[in-house]
Amino acid sequence: MASGNDTGSFWMPPQASTVAADVDGLYNFVLWLNIIFFVLITAGTVWLVIRYRRRSNDQYATAQIAHSTWFEALWTFGPLALLVIVFVWGTRVFMDLAVAPEGAYTVQVQAKKWSWTFTHPNGAVVPGELEVPAGRPVRLVMASQDVLHSFFVPDFRVKQDVVPGRLTSLWFEAKAPGEHQIFCTEYCGKDHSRMLAKVKVIAADVDYRGPQTGKPAEVSLEDWGKQLYTKFGCNACHSVDGAKGVGPSFKGLYGKQESLASGGTVLVDENYIMESIYDPNAKLVAGFAGGMPTFKGQIDSEGIQSIIAFIKTLK
Ligand code: CUA
Repeated sequence: MASGNDTGSFWMPPQASTVAADVDGLYNFVLWLNIIFFVLITAGTVWLVIRYRRRSNDQYATAQIAHSTWFEALWTFGPLALLVIVFVWGTRVFMDLAVAPEGAYTVQVQAKKWSWTFTHPNGAVVPGELEVPAGRPVRLVMASQDVLHSFFVPDFRVKQDVVPGRLTSLWFEAKAPGEHQIFCTEYCGKDHSRMLAKVKVIAADVDYRGPQTGKPAEVSLEDWGKQLYTKFGCNACHSVDGAKGVGPSFKGLYGKQESLASGGTVLVDENYIMESIYDPNAKLVAGFAGGMPTFKGQIDSEGIQSIIAFIKTLK
C-alpha cells in the first residue's frame, strides 16, 4: 500500500504523515490504559469473589469493612490524572489535525457516487489520483455532489466527512515520496467499496502548482478514452461487455437507436454522447433510473472525443 518509507507495524499502517506518530502515540496510550485497567479490575474482582466468598451454610453476617481514605483518594485522583493527560494530549493532537498551517498547498476535492476528483491550483482536474508534494502541508477543500462520503487515508491518519451542501476540509503533510490508498469510509451506495483513489506523493519544487494533464502525444484517442473511462469512474456504471449496470453498457452503443424514458428514440452519435456526459438526464434511456452527475468542467473536448473514439471500438 505504501512505498518509499516505513512499512508500518503489526497493528498499524505506515506513519506516512507528520501527524501520524502523534495520533498513534495517543492511541497506544489509551489502548494500554484499557488493557492495564481491564487486567487490574478483572483480577481484583476475581480475587474479592474468592477471598470474601460464603464459607459455610450457617454464615449470615457479612464482614464489616470501614472505608479507607487513602485508598479512595487513590482510586479517585489516579484515574482523574490519567484522564486529564488524555484530555490535554487529545486536544493538542485534535488542534494539530484541525488547523492547517499557513500557506498550505490547496486542492479542491469533488466526491460523487463513486469517484474522487481533484482540482489543483494550476487548473488540472484529475480523477482518481491526488498528486501532492512531499514535505509541504496540503489542504483539501472537499465538496460532495450527491450524498455523504468520507475521505480517509489510513497511512496519514486523517479522515473527514464530505457532506452535500457544505465544504469540509482536512490537511496533512506527507513525509516522503510514495503512494497511499484513499478510501471512502462512509457507506454511500452500491459501489461504496469501490470508491477508491490514490495519493501520489512526489518530490517537487516549492512552486509546484499541480500535475500536467491532457492526452500525451504518443497515446491514441482510443487509448486515452479507455484511460479516462476508468479514471473518471465511468466503469462503475457502464460495462464494456454488454452487461447491464446502473447505466447502459458501452458495448455496441455507438450508432444504436435507443428508446428514451420520455418516449421516442434517439440515434447514439457523437453529439448524443457528448450531451449525455455534460447533461446526463437530458435524454434518459428507457429502463434506467438516471442520477448520473454531469462531467462539465471536468472532461474537456479532447476528453469527450477520446471517450467517443473508445466507445466506437466497442462493437
Ligand atoms: Cu463514497 Cu462511500
